[in-house]
Amino acid sequence: VDLSEGRMVALFDHVRNMLEMGIEATFPGKGFANAMLVGSNVSYKSAAALTLLKRIDGLGFPYKTAHDIASAIHKNLPKSTLLESSHFEVDERGFITVVVPAKLLATILTNIVVHGVLPPKQEKKKRVIIDFSSPNIAKEMHVGHLRSTIIGESLCRLLEYRGFEVLRVNHVGDWGTQFGMLIAHLKDEFPNFRNESPPIGDLQAFYKASKKRFDADEEFKKRAYTEVVKLQAGTDADVRHAWKLICDESRREFELIYKRLHVTIKEKGESFYQPMMPSVVADLEKRGFVQVEDGRKIMFVPDQAVPLTVEKSDGGYTYDTSDLAAIKYRIEEEHADWIIYVVDVGQSLHLETVFSAAKHVGWLDPAKVRVDHVAFGLVLGEDGKKFKTRSGDTVRLVDLLDEAVERAKVVLDSKRGGDLQPEEYAAALDAVSYGAVKYADLSTSRTSDYTFSFDRMLKLVGNTAPYLLYAYTRMSSIARNAGIDVSKEIAKHPCEFTEGPELALARALIRFPEILNRITDDLMPHTLGSFLYEICQLYSTFYEKLRIIEHDVDKATGTKTIKSIHYPRLALCEAASLVLKQGLSILGMDVVGKM
Ligand code: ARG
Repeated sequence: VDLSEGRMVALFDHVRNMLEMGIEATFPGKGFANAMLVGSNVSYKSAAALTLLKRIDGLGFPYKTAHDIASAIHKNLPKSTLLESSHFEVDERGFITVVVPAKLLATILTNIVVHGVLPPKQEKKKRVIIDFSSPNIAKEMHVGHLRSTIIGESLCRLLEYRGFEVLRVNHVGDWGTQFGMLIAHLKDEFPNFRNESPPIGDLQAFYKASKKRFDADEEFKKRAYTEVVKLQAGTDADVRHAWKLICDESRREFELIYKRLHVTIKEKGESFYQPMMPSVVADLEKRGFVQVEDGRKIMFVPDQAVPLTVEKSDGGYTYDTSDLAAIKYRIEEEHADWIIYVVDVGQSLHLETVFSAAKHVGWLDPAKVRVDHVAFGLVLGEDGKKFKTRSGDTVRLVDLLDEAVERAKVVLDSKRGGDLQPEEYAAALDAVSYGAVKYADLSTSRTSDYTFSFDRMLKLVGNTAPYLLYAYTRMSSIARNAGIDVSKEIAKHPCEFTEGPELALARALIRFPEILNRITDDLMPHTLGSFLYEICQLYSTFYEKLRIIEHDVDKATGTKTIKSIHYPRLALCEAASLVLKQGLSILGMDVVGKM
């Protein structure tokens, strides 16, 4: 009964939110399916009554059909000034349709212009931990981590905007076996490392050199192993110092990338959980979850083929152990309501096993804590193979971003970049170059592999960053150039939309919260990209077909004076630019007024 009543309450909440609609209201995500167009109105259709019927079966409710339930909902609708009972329709099968009348459409758009684009309502402030970026120390951050960084930053912004409390966590790989050879190599190369910071400089080269020795030299390999054991035992101050030097160097490099991409993240890497690992393993052992195989301590998890290795035969811990300790800490100490792992699809099995283990041993109660693996595919080169440099090396992110900037310059200069002030040009260049890299990634479904192509991401037409950014400059400049504060003027000029192109744009704009609800649900930001692209296309038809501001031109002097202003349309431009700006910001992108 509880569950069904819960559903009832949830449904009434949906309906109430519909009633209070304003752009700030929650558009029911799952309950009310895709918006449909009815004449000049927009409608939402809900199958909630059909779902409810199945749920209440045998629970003693007096409803026999979905139509009965739908009618009961209709009859009990709370009062609202915006939507009347006549705006709801119940059909024979029990579908409820809510029609958003033109007047309400205008109200919502006016609200956007006056109050800004407010996020859909959030019931209770929830805490979400987003584990993203998470490169490995000393190994260069590669394009896979770039994807995680871009997608993760976008999800952080989405959920922050929605009112969640977001903990942005960089789960860097700073504790793995690679440190053995790195520390051994550091000791050989820079024997004076205790007193003087070694000029490691190129960490990737340093990594490569130590790997080469590790693979070729048995003696060195043995030493590398002992160094890891010493590191993990935590008793050797020198080893710890060497480890820290290497981490610091890596960190500096990561920071440069984050700064350029406007990414905020806090490091809490694998080593952070080291102090907890012994007790986690001991606890699992005590409760009988662990068995020993070939000297390793392993843990089988229901429905998962591969066991987790919680302790190696030399007493060291693994990636599995750190993830177990991390999930426990996130739930029990950090009190997360939701944990999101933005990690490549290649680690699905690992993460699934960790999640099932956490459930199995009772740390994770799925009814209380939501856990998601936001998986993403590979980055491919234009040749369809794994993204590499011509010489076959992994592409360094700094080089990649540098190239993005160079290429974006060409694009800007081909337009009108020339007559911008230097600081305007710099801002535009930043917006286009990094925007292009981010948008190319976020506008494709994250689960598929994605082909990295500067040519494609910098095209001026199509679903690209430059197209959207230029569209923004056009939308936002109309009122600005005319010197009008639309948010003030609109109160004196009530909105009404009657023409096809303006209605189409208005109807699309009010769907923004619904799109946000959807991506909060499925964590697929590309839907937002497609939505924003659609807005720009509708805007461009609207702009071509309808007059917004008309000018008189003095034939003798060529000076233009405003003859007439269509305020509702100007409000539409403003609303479109605000929605676009907010949407792009959720995708991690900056807009500029001029390009
Ligand atoms: N450092 C890992 C890698 O580069 C990603 C870590 C993802 N997060 C996690 N909690 N396992 O593959």
